[in-house]
Amino acid sequence: MPRAPTLSAQQNTARQLIADAARRFRSARLAFGHGTLNADDEAAWLTVHALGCPFEELAARLDLPVPPAALRRAQRLFERRITERIPAAYLTREAWLGEHRFYVDERVIVPRSYIAELLRDRLQPWLPSRYQPKTILDLCTGSGCLAIVAAHTFAQAQVDGGDISTAALAVARRNVREHHLAERVQLKQTDLFGKLAGLQYDLILTNPPYVGVSAMRALPAEFRHEPVLALAGGSDGLDLVRRILMEAPQHLNDGGWLVMEVGHYRPRVERAFPRLPFIWAETSGGDDCVLLIQKESLLSAALRARPSTAVTARRRRVTSP
Ligand SMILES: C[S@@+](CC[C@H](N)C(=O)[O-])C[C@H]1O[C@@H](n2cnc3c(N)ncnc32)[C@H](O)[C@@H]1O
Repeated sequence: MPRAPTLSAQQNTARQLIADAARRFRSARLAFGHGTLNADDEAAWLTVHALGCPFEELAARLDLPVPPAALRRAQRLFERRITERIPAAYLTREAWLGEHRFYVDERVIVPRSYIAELLRDRLQPWLPSRYQPKTILDLCTGSGCLAIVAAHTFAQAQVDGGDISTAALAVARRNVREHHLAERVQLKQTDLFGKLAGLQYDLILTNPPYVGVSAMRALPAEFRHEPVLALAGGSDGLDLVRRILMEAPQHLNDGGWLVMEVGHYRPRVERAFPRLPFIWAETSGGDDCVLLIQKESLLSAALRARPSTAVTARRRRVTSP
């Protein structure tokens, strides 16, 4: 069995360590997408963690020798990243959405929702200017990341975060505490809107599980470390998306908005709900991932549950104006 390359004395700067690890990651054909998008950034992230310094200090330390203990820590992290295919976020126990840091472990999906980008811009230009929701629900909150980003963004708002998984909610509770938001962010265990009867919000954010069965089968090993419950969305991926579109109007105040991430399933969602006038926000992932829709639009469209097959939806599109 080939042995992992060891570092020579000349390779002991952070720059060389990162370059060597990135080469190994590429040749091992690792999959990225849990906070970084390529081997170099992933190697830098793990190296910074091993060094125990803030990321901003890396540039100044790139050509300094890496202390032996940090070198050993880095080697161990690289080894686990390669052999066990564990996403760096689970190895370092942290993930970032913009400037916000979150604790993560295998009880929650690694935060990467495009909705966080939209919140950074206060949902502009998609929602009315000076939009100020007072009550927000983050449905399927997982680590609590979107509830927390929303609370930071809209400092006057009360935020509820709901999730079916008590394990995920334990992580969310830790993050709410670490962000000092316990006064404004409440967490609830609920199957979608099941335990939210009678509650209405100005804004509902949700990044539900939306991976279809065939896409689940094709997921790289890294994604299999994440909870299936956080990913699997039924045969075509839209099981929860459908339920949320049907039930959201009862939980929105008049004029309220639903903002939902649906992967790259825009065509599928539009075929399933051809009468709903979705706004598709432009994100770094494209304009097919996050939809916005107002309560009144949800109510006025003839919202009927349809069979999920694309064939039925396509036929409908041809026959309806
Ligand atoms: C894709 S993750 C999103 C987590 C987090 N909002 C984020 O963006 O990183 C989906 C979450 O939905 C939760 N979930 C799955 N089925 C649910 C249901 N029926 N009701 C409520 N939450 C559910 C999972 O436990 C998981 O935490």
